[in-house]
Amino acid sequence: MKKRTHTCGELTKNDVSKSVVLNGWINTVRLHGQVVFVDLRDRYGKTQLVFNADTYPGDFDAVKKLSIEDVISISGTVQPRADEAVNPGMFTGEIEVAVNSLVILNETEPLPFVITDRESASEDFRLKYRYLELRTEELQKNMITRHRAYQAVRSYLTNEQFIEVETPVLMKSTPEGARDYLVPSRIHNGKFFALPQSPQTYKQLLMISGFDRYFQIVKCFRDEDLRADRQPEFTQIDLEMSFVDEQDIYALGEGLTGSVFKEVLGVSLPQKFPVMTYNEAMDTYGTDKPDLRFELQLKDVKPFTDASDFNAFKSAETVKGLVLPGMQYSRKIIDQMTDFVKQYGAKGLAWMKAENGVLSGGISKFLSEDLQQKLRNELEINDGDMIFMIGDAKETVLQSTGALRNEIARRENLAKESDFKPLWVVDFPMFEWDEDDKRFIAMHHPFTAPKNEDIDKLTSDPKNVISRGYDLVINGYEVAGGSIRIHERDLQSKVFKLLGISKEEADQKFGFLLNAFRYGAPPHGGIAFGFDRLVMLLAGTHNIRDVIAFPKTTSAMSLMDESPSPVSNTQLDELGIVLKGRD
Ligand code: AMO
Repeated sequence: MKKRTHTCGELTKNDVSKSVVLNGWINTVRLHGQVVFVDLRDRYGKTQLVFNADTYPGDFDAVKKLSIEDVISISGTVQPRADEAVNPGMFTGEIEVAVNSLVILNETEPLPFVITDRESASEDFRLKYRYLELRTEELQKNMITRHRAYQAVRSYLTNEQFIEVETPVLMKSTPEGARDYLVPSRIHNGKFFALPQSPQTYKQLLMISGFDRYFQIVKCFRDEDLRADRQPEFTQIDLEMSFVDEQDIYALGEGLTGSVFKEVLGVSLPQKFPVMTYNEAMDTYGTDKPDLRFELQLKDVKPFTDASDFNAFKSAETVKGLVLPGMQYSRKIIDQMTDFVKQYGAKGLAWMKAENGVLSGGISKFLSEDLQQKLRNELEINDGDMIFMIGDAKETVLQSTGALRNEIARRENLAKESDFKPLWVVDFPMFEWDEDDKRFIAMHHPFTAPKNEDIDKLTSDPKNVISRGYDLVINGYEVAGGSIRIHERDLQSKVFKLLGISKEEADQKFGFLLNAFRYGAPPHGGIAFGFDRLVMLLAGTHNIRDVIAFPKTTSAMSLMDESPSPVSNTQLDELGIVLKGRD
C-alpha cells in the first residue's frame, strides 16, 4: 500500500499540480464512457478522482469494476475542475485528482444496506452491522461531536482545579434505584461484585481523602427499563466538591455546560440558569423536567369544573387545563389525543373551543355563559383557541397533561431544535412513598442531605422533608442530577433507618462509608451529568443510540456481537453457578 500524502478532505486549488497519494473508501462511482469519476471518502471528507481511459496507464477494465465501499489507494496529480464541474458545497470542490495508479486494498462484498441512507434498513439490522452504520456521515459527525465534548469537559474541569480519578468497576452494590448488573466471583464462590450504577460512594470517599475536587468520565451500569434516552451502559461526567453549597455546584454546572455548548456548537447559554422548584415544575408543566422552549402551561381549572354541571370531574382530586393558542383540532385528532392521554392513565380528555365570544363543543354545554366568560378571562382564552382538560388523581393528571403538552409541541413543532433552555429543578421531596413495598424510597439517593431546616421533620413529618438535591434540565431532558450530601454518621444512619434499611443492613452495605464519616469528613456535594444525553442535545438527536458507538437495543442486547450470550458449563462450574432449568 502506498501511504497517503493527504486526507480526502484536504486538497484545494493551492495543491494543483501536486503528485498525491490518497487512501479511502469509494463513496460513489460514475461511469461516463471512457472516463470514470470516483468520490473517495475518509472521515475528513471526499475528493473526486478521475480515471481517463486515454491517459490512465493501468488496467481500465479493473477501474470500471470498482464498486461502492471498496477500499483503495491511488496516486495521481491534482488538477483544477472544469468551471462547470466546480462544487462550491464541497471543501475539495474546486479540484479533482487525475489518477495514474490504483491499488485495491479490499474489495467489498454486496453491502447489507445502503450506507448513505440510514432509513434504508431497520434499526435492528443496522445495529447488527454497526461498523458499517458508523461510516454514515451522521454517525461520524456524532462521534466527532462526542469527542469534542469529552475534550471540552476535561479542559474546563482541569482549569477549575478538578482532578480525574478512576474508581473501580468491580464494586459493592450502591443504590441508585435500578437493579445492579452482577459479576460472580470465581475465587469467592457465591459472592458477587456489582457493576457501578454510579461511583457515588467512591466520590464521597475521595472527598474524605482530601481530593477536594474530583471528576471522572465514567461508565455506569443500570439494569432498568430502557427508553429513547436510557441505555443499560451509559456514561456520566461525575464530579464532587468539598466545602461547597448548592450555589457553588450551580455555578460550576453552568460554567461546565456553557463551556461545552460554546466549544462544540458555538452556542452561548445564559451565564446563570433559572431555578424552579419541583412543585412549581410539576404544577405548571406536569413534569420535573419541563421543556421551556415553549409556553403551554398547565392551569388549575378545578374551581371552574366544580362550578359547572359537568359531574365527571367533581370527585377528581385535580383538574388541569391546557389552552392551545390559535389551535383548534378536528374530532379525529381529539380522538387521537384522547387515546394518547389514556396511555398515561387518564380516563378521558375533555375539551372546548373558543368561538364567537363563547365556548362551544365538548363539555361547553355544562358551563353557564357566565362561567364560560370567567374561564375565558382568567385563562386568557381567545376566539380560535381550544382548551383540553383532564381531571383525576393529582399524579395521573400531572403525568397525562404533561405528556399531552409535549405531544402537542411535537405535533405543532413548537420547540426549535437550535434553542437550548436550561434550568435547575430544586427542592425535591426527600422521600417518595412506595405503595407496593409500604416504605419510603429516596427520591435522589440515600446520601442526599435534607434541608437544614427540615432535619427535625425527619422524625416528625418525613413526607414533607425537602432535600438538597437538584437536577439540571435542558429541553425536557434530565441532563444532570446531584445533591449536597450528608457528611455526618448519625444523620446518615437516621436516613437509612427511614428508608427501611436496618442497622445491620446499613453496616453490611455501607459500613465503609459510615466508618469513613468518623474520621474527618468535609461537607461536600456533587453532580453527575448524563454525558450521552448532553451529546444527544449537542448532536440534535432524540435517540441515545445515535451518540454511542456500539449501543444496546431497548431490550438490552448487542445485536452485533450477540451479547449477552450463553457461557460454557466449565465457566459456570468455576463460578459455582447452576442455572435453573439447565441440566
Ligand atoms: P442520577 O441517577 O440522577 O445521579 O444520574 C445522573 C445522570 O445520569 C443520566 N442517566 C442516564 N443516562 C442514560 N441512560 C441511563 N440509564 C441513565 N441513568 C441516568 C441522567 C442523570 O441525570 N450518583 C448520582 C449523582 C450525584 O448525586 O452526584 C447519580 O448517578 O442524565
